[in-house]
Amino acid sequence: MSGSNGSINRAAFRTMECGLYIVTSRSGDRLNGQIANTVFQVTSQPPRIATSLSKSNLTHEYIAESGVFTVCVMAEEAPFAFIGPFGFRSGRVINKLEGISYVIGINGCPVITDHVVASIEARVTDSVDVGTHTLFIGDVVSARLLHDARPMTYAFYQQNLKGKTPVDSPTYIPEE
Ligand SMILES: Cc1cc2nc3c(=O)[nH]c(=O)nc-3n(C[C@H](O)[C@H](O)[C@H](O)COP(=O)(O)O)c2cc1C
Repeated sequence: MSGSNGSINRAAFRTMECGLYIVTSRSGDRLNGQIANTVFQVTSQPPRIATSLSKSNLTHEYIAESGVFTVCVMAEEAPFAFIGPFGFRSGRVINKLEGISYVIGINGCPVITDHVVASIEARVTDSVDVGTHTLFIGDVVSARLLHDARPMTYAFYQQNLKGKTPVDSPTYIPEE
């Protein structure tokens, strides 16, 4: 057992399993999306989901403006070349949806249709300031199964795509 009482061994965070998602939003007719591993269902009745996004991200700006977001659940077969721009580039610098297949959902956000197993569309009900990030909580307005494939877990991403986590992610682990 490593780490004594009261100390923070960040390796403990890596034991918390989660999935990998593209969270999309819009501002007017401008669209964007980013990778997030901090997405989870918070209640069942009514169905409600939450995501923790960095205040410096364009996706954060769009959700704060429009009050809507959509979670696209990544498939295991998604290549790093597909994930990379969504997770390591900002929509302020590139148009991440150029050349990507998507449809517009009922909340007006893009639903990505390649390398995605399901989509969950939400309208924000609460925003909690958690410091560097905002926890956006939303009522689900639509949920669809898109492809019969295995959803990607964060562990699968780290083990098989050898992907790193950028500093903007809540689960970023700084060098100690
Ligand atoms: C594996 C992985 C997980 C990530 N998880 C989150 C997350 O949960 N929240 C967050 O704000 N950023 C997360 N990021 C970082 C954003 O995807 C990244 O900062 C993105 O470039 C922001 O794009 P935007 O400015 O276009 O919104 C993650 C990135 C990767 C690669």
